[in-house]
Amino acid sequence: MRIPLIAGNWKMNTTVAEAQALLAQMSGALGRIEGVEILLCPPFVSLATIKGMLQGTTIRLGAQNMYWEDKGAFTGEISSLMLSPLCQYVILGHSERRHVFQESDEVIACKVRSALRAHLRPIICVGERLEENEAGQTREVIGRQLKSALTGIGDIDSLVVAYEPVWAIGTGRAATGEQARATSGFIRLVLGELFGQAKASSIRIIYGGSVTAANVAEFLCQPDIDGALVGGASLKALEFISIADQAAGLKGRR
Ligand code: PGA
Repeated sequence: MRIPLIAGNWKMNTTVAEAQALLAQMSGALGRIEGVEILLCPPFVSLATIKGMLQGTTIRLGAQNMYWEDKGAFTGEISSLMLSPLCQYVILGHSERRHVFQESDEVIACKVRSALRAHLRPIICVGERLEENEAGQTREVIGRQLKSALTGIGDIDSLVVAYEPVWAIGTGRAATGEQARATSGFIRLVLGELFGQAKASSIRIIYGGSVTAANVAEFLCQPDIDGALVGGASLKALEFISIADQAAGLKGRR
């Protein structure tokens, strides 16, 4: 059984004080939600503080990115070895990393391997750009991104795949439930090719891209979608609580 995952990606928002205040508004309600794994991904500088605040709760903590070398002369970078004492998850290959910071499939593959070595659970983001979608290339792009990130990986138990169409991120234009259903089904097929059906059926696939409290149910009711990666709406305490609550209602007791 796949435990649903609701992840908040705070991106480059919140100072440490703001992160503390945001968490204080939601931790009580989030902590009472059962049957759903709830994950918060604040900026690096807040991880240690938020970790302290989450002690004694079931809420998980994740980073938004990392570098693949363990240590050394890489000014400004943060390694998986530095993150693993602080958090359980790391988001890798987010479309903003791919397209704003020009991270290639090869770079993302190195990061996935480094995260797994450090026992961090990677949330691997894949998704097509608008022009690729319109040209009918969605499957080709996502197949390529998945195979590059995952080929040769043995330890897949901790993997999460996030389907985030680039055109839906931060735009207010979410995919339709049908689009997300079709692509998540395709992702599970590719996972089956890579790892075999049994293992593929245990990997969580989540949807991201303009998820709100108003539309999350449309995604959660799809058979291959096991949760959501939430950006903008995760910065609004009541809205994020509502998203997690709906996940518990729709998926938490399957
Ligand atoms: P959004 O971001 O919910 O603001 O569209 C999602 C993401 O980038 O993970």
